[in-house]
Amino acid sequence: MNKKWLIGNWKMHGNLASNKALIEGIRAELGQPDERVALVVCPAFPYLFQLAELTRDSGIEVGVQNVSDHLQGAYTGETSPLMVKELGGSFTIIGHSERRQYQGENDGLMGRKALAAIDAGLIPVICVGETAEERDSGRTHEVLARQLDAAFGYIRTAHDKIILAYEPRWAIGTGIAATPEIVQTEHEFLRQRIAIRDKDFAAKLPIIYGGSVKVSNATSIFSMPDVDGGLIGSAALNAREFITIYRELLNSTPAEAA
Ligand code: PGA
Repeated sequence: MNKKWLIGNWKMHGNLASNKALIEGIRAELGQPDERVALVVCPAFPYLFQLAELTRDSGIEVGVQNVSDHLQGAYTGETSPLMVKELGGSFTIIGHSERRQYQGENDGLMGRKALAAIDAGLIPVICVGETAEERDSGRTHEVLARQLDAAFGYIRTAHDKIILAYEPRWAIGTGIAATPEIVQTEHEFLRQRIAIRDKDFAAKLPIIYGGSVKVSNATSIFSMPDVDGGLIGSAALNAREFITIYRELLNSTPAEAA
């Protein structure tokens, strides 16, 4: 049984005072973390070091929301995954749909960023997902396959520390999550697509869901067999909600998972 993952994407929210209050709230609600579910928070870049300090020895891990596809060099305004690692980050979200939508990121860049993250010792959380228009025109699997194949044009199944996130764009920040049935169908599709390359890797690959996960829908989504956790946006900004979602995930995880 695979370990589960709950990752909070704080997006471009927070400041020194509110971050401190949020993480203290999360720690108080959490108590002793359970090793069956890894808990990760991804603040905005300038607060990485603050969060690394505030989560020291807490069992909570820290990540970022984006990295450069280069490790070093003349890339004004970019942040190397090596810098993230040095400042205490262990994860990075890659190819989030808000970056595709607002920053013009494409499939190839996503693959290169994932590889740079792995080279620096970070765990990439690779996001794939279709738009409403792509779903309505019956192209969901075509789009997911294209995004997945582009990423695996750079990374290899030999890279064992990778997380895949299914994040349909129409469900992100809209309050309307995908139904558990849709989530299961797409996670199964993604796992089967990867199994063509490497069956063992596919069986072990954590595939998490993101898009309007909240307390009211977490249990039904997490009960699906191919769901290994969640990538949480707005509900991750409320300590009680975030940890209630964590407990729902824990409750859906068999005792032997680790
Ligand atoms: P949401 O965001 O939970 O606010 O929909 C999820 C995400 O962007 O990862």
